[in-house]
Amino acid sequence: MILSPSLLSADLSCLVAELSALEDAGVRWLHLDIMDGSFVPNITFGPPLIRAIRPHSRLFFDVHLMIEYPARYLHDFRDAGADMLVLHAEADRNPRRTLAAIRDMGLKSGLAFNPGTDISSLRWLAPDLDMLLLMGVNPGFSGQSFLPEAYDKIRAARALLAATGAQDTPVQVDGGVCPENTAAIMEAGADILVSGSAFFGHKPYDARLAAFMRAAEHLPPRPALDKACGWRREPPASC
Ligand code: DX5
Ligand code: ZN
Repeated sequence: MILSPSLLSADLSCLVAELSALEDAGVRWLHLDIMDGSFVPNITFGPPLIRAIRPHSRLFFDVHLMIEYPARYLHDFRDAGADMLVLHAEADRNPRRTLAAIRDMGLKSGLAFNPGTDISSLRWLAPDLDMLLLMGVNPGFSGQSFLPEAYDKIRAARALLAATGAQDTPVQVDGGVCPENTAAIMEAGADILVSGSAFFGHKPYDARLAAFMRAAEHLPPRPALDKACGWRREPPASC
């Protein structure tokens, strides 16, 4: 299992210290929740913050775009230091084109679906997708409870990916994840879990990371997870 802690729940008054505490604890990914006050009823941060923290961290920056028409901002997020850009299927008129554009920029591409959105379009979108994100809550705020209907959706998504030959596509689940429901979410078919409040509210971070990992340690290895484990922060190009 990969755990991607959501920066939104960190102590925003000392981000550099939080980033090094995460790396010291053995965390490898960082989830960055970008909210525009339109696609979701909340506003967070954008490329300037990513640019500011990038020199202080070697974590894999997994950027979750909860913004309308995300295609307008792909280059801004790439230039700021994103490693993966995840757009919402509901927010883009042509997700397949935007996913391909993300890959063309050399980043991993991800597609997210809200709890109430049908995922049958996955059949057509899977070829341009590096990672699927399924929301466990209606996006907008951390600290919400996981919606139980998401379990069926994770199983359905896994079956759809397998039917399109994309069984090695990693599935990320975001919202309401905690050590208590980690085993069930992973058994349903997730590979990568995002956690905000249930992670940052419990120091020390190494013990908290271990609590999540322990909950999933009985699961057999999976190609999709192995694939995501190979994703790393690319070193900057030398000039
Ligand atoms: C929800 C965000 C999540 C959220 C996770 O809109 O996309 O990433 O911050 O927070 P928790 O784990 O507290 O639900
Ligand atoms: Zn998120």
